[in-house]
Amino acid sequence: MKQDTLRAAVLISGTGSNLKALINAVESSGLKLNIVRVVSNREDAPGIGHARAASIPVSVISHTEFPDRQAHDAAVAEVLQQDRAELIILAGYMRILGEDFANQYCGRMINLHPSLLPLYKGLDTYNRALKSGDSETGASIHFVTAGLDSGPVISQIKIPILPDDDAASLSARLGPLEHQLLVATVELFCNRQISYQQGTVLYQNKIMKHPLQLKPDSLFF
Ligand code: GRF
Repeated sequence: MKQDTLRAAVLISGTGSNLKALINAVESSGLKLNIVRVVSNREDAPGIGHARAASIPVSVISHTEFPDRQAHDAAVAEVLQQDRAELIILAGYMRILGEDFANQYCGRMINLHPSLLPLYKGLDTYNRALKSGDSETGASIHFVTAGLDSGPVISQIKIPILPDDDAASLSARLGPLEHQLLVATVELFCNRQISYQQGTVLYQNKIMKHPLQLKPDSLFF
């Protein structure tokens, strides 16, 4: 059955390399995603340049201009509603979203996080993995629910931690793989293969017991 192109908004705060990976996949690999808007909470986010270069509408909604989190969230939600975004992709969005916003977009919002969730929610994930003596690290994509980095995990990619690794080397090795993970996972949404049901992930309409693992050498789950 032919599906319409999925309308998505991408929220960023920084470099936007994951946004760029999505744009490349749309332009070069036929990803059936319509990025209807990019929202940044920082006007100096370099990632805004990727959106403008691809003629994607950009809204800079600076959290500093609102009295509280709820008011800022409401301004973001208003823009997303106007654009009729079906999927909200947090790609390096460094603001915590409030409970109301998370509930409003429950099942329609995903986040990319640089750890093997449920390990290391929050910041400084590579150093925390190194300090714990972990043998591997990675990235996860999860549905966003109220609670920091807590929603059900959809997909992951893992890499080994090598003896000489530091946070910079892990970030350098994982960065390109995060891009692949995001594109592959968003493609599942475009094909309507992933959905959310009461705190669980449905993959092809069945409850997923474990996150999908992207194989770095094959680029397939
Ligand atoms: C990524 O490492 C992602 O895991 C984290 O923020 C970073 C975003 O990078 N949430 P970029 O802005 O997409 O380059």
